[in-house]
Amino acid sequence: MASTNRRKFLKTTVGFSAAAVATTALGVNPLNALVGCTSSNSSGDSSDSGGVLEFSQDPLGYDYNALEPYIDARTMEIHYTKHHTGYISKVNDALKADGVAYSTAEELFANISKLSDGIRNNGGGAWNHTFFWKSMRAPVEGNAPTGELLEAINGAFGSFDKFKEEFASAGATRFGSGWAWLVSDNGSLKIGSTPNQDNPLMDDAELKGKPLLGIDVWEHAYYLHYQNKRGDYISNWWNVVNWDFVAEQLNG
Ligand SMILES: [Fe+2]
Repeated sequence: MASTNRRKFLKTTVGFSAAAVATTALGVNPLNALVGCTSSNSSGDSSDSGGVLEFSQDPLGYDYNALEPYIDARTMEIHYTKHHTGYISKVNDALKADGVAYSTAEELFANISKLSDGIRNNGGGAWNHTFFWKSMRAPVEGNAPTGELLEAINGAFGSFDKFKEEFASAGATRFGSGWAWLVSDNGSLKIGSTPNQDNPLMDDAELKGKPLLGIDVWEHAYYLHYQNKRGDYISNWWNVVNWDFVAEQLNG
């Protein structure tokens, strides 16, 4: 793949950057600094150097209590330090054990049907949570998308309220554990969900596309505060969605 195409490809992989060295180099684009995985090269551009994919965990970017009262600090702390950290550690172990050496998360997910459940589940968990942390910010009164993003949502779903209804339904009706997503499928906005730690970048996902927004509907994301009331968690979650981040994904 030509260098420019590969860079474009990388840019769509939110939560990804190349080497630790490259984090700085790519830092000009905030999306590329959303480290969800690194590559062990030192050139600053894993796409052209054959670096080996390795996931890593960025700082959360806000305090554990920053999303209160909608998501409590204890949930955030456990979610970030136990669940997410665990996925990252396990996927890196699995990648090494299986000798899997893709250079980007997108390449990994585009071939996920050929790989082990350990890589699938933990790789998805590593990437999805990095994306999720970036999708949230401290509560904003009247939180809503604006500009081109709002126009795109209105065009695809009729209105922002209808979009929220459909998205919430996708999350509420996902049986067991999983994620609900808003994706761009070649420019067409779609809503759906994936089971377990699957995501729309996976080659065998029912819902495919570039993730713009995702909500974790595993019980570990809400049970301490909401117990079994997943619907309440989702309806309150709208207060902490980082619409600037979503807009960046749409335009990225
Ligand atoms: Fe989670």
